[in-house]
Amino acid sequence: MRAVLVALVALAAGTFPLIGFAADAPFVPSPQVVVDEMLRAANVGPQDVLYDLGSGDGRIVITAARKFGARGVGVELDEHLVIQSEEGARQAGVEQRVKFLQQDLFKTDLSEATVITMYLLPNVNRRLRPHLLNLKPGTRIVAHDFDLDEWKPDQVTTIRKNVFLWIVPAKVGGRWVARVPLPGGMRNFVIDFRQMFQAIDGVARVEGQQAQMWEARLRGDRISFVIVDGDDRDHEASLYFEGRVAGNVMEGEIRRGVGNAQSTIKWQAVKVGP
Ligand SMILES: C[S@@+](CC[C@H](N)C(=O)[O-])C[C@H]1O[C@@H](n2cnc3c(N)ncnc32)[C@H](O)[C@@H]1O
Repeated sequence: MRAVLVALVALAAGTFPLIGFAADAPFVPSPQVVVDEMLRAANVGPQDVLYDLGSGDGRIVITAARKFGARGVGVELDEHLVIQSEEGARQAGVEQRVKFLQQDLFKTDLSEATVITMYLLPNVNRRLRPHLLNLKPGTRIVAHDFDLDEWKPDQVTTIRKNVFLWIVPAKVGGRWVARVPLPGGMRNFVIDFRQMFQAIDGVARVEGQQAQMWEARLRGDRISFVIVDGDDRDHEASLYFEGRVAGNVMEGEIRRGVGNAQSTIKWQAVKVGP
């Protein structure tokens, strides 16, 4: 009776006592079709390094190596589950491509991960969110069953259970300046981006004139948006910006206009303020 009571209190608090540790979620394995869907949704491949946070019996890491050729790391507090995972990896013949760390996922360096998978409780996901947002832009995060609250997923699939996918967005909020060689002459664009997770919008000032930004999108480190070059009312044209964000620099190409009136211009912007 007391054990049941302790488990119920732990469930309510979102922590589960393991020997010597307080686990943030109990061991409940993901069904194999859900594991498969998580890895398919994240488009896992041989170039990937996948970290499963709270890896249980290792099934996600082992499947990533066996069916998708990825390298994988499982992070798990429970020693017995780590031993079981290592045995599972040997049986699947993937022990060279995977490893299991018996440690706290909150104290794990995730910087080499290109894919993160997790099946944890909502409050744990919420605590993890700031760490996940600081991963390399473009890192894919897949969660089984529970989402990340205000950070809306880029994709949801449902096959028995919900599988959520997020792409870690680059940080673009703030003021950027771009010098762009337009047909009418060199122009300075001062662009103020607002950002909420992967959602962005912005306004630009071009030589002191306000110009609205349209169709702004951010996926990982890929950014695109449109500003109308309205310098000459008779020859207005949309400027389709596309580029890549790397720290305080974004650069790429602008397509000006459409069809046979289209021209291509290189652009680069530098972050100059918050
Ligand atoms: C719901 S199970 C998911 C297992 C596996 N990822 C799957 O989907 O089949 C959650 C696992 O997270 C582990 N866990 C909970 N808190 C942890 C922490 N702070 N660090 C590492 N592992 C943790 C638990 O021991 C449990 O095995």
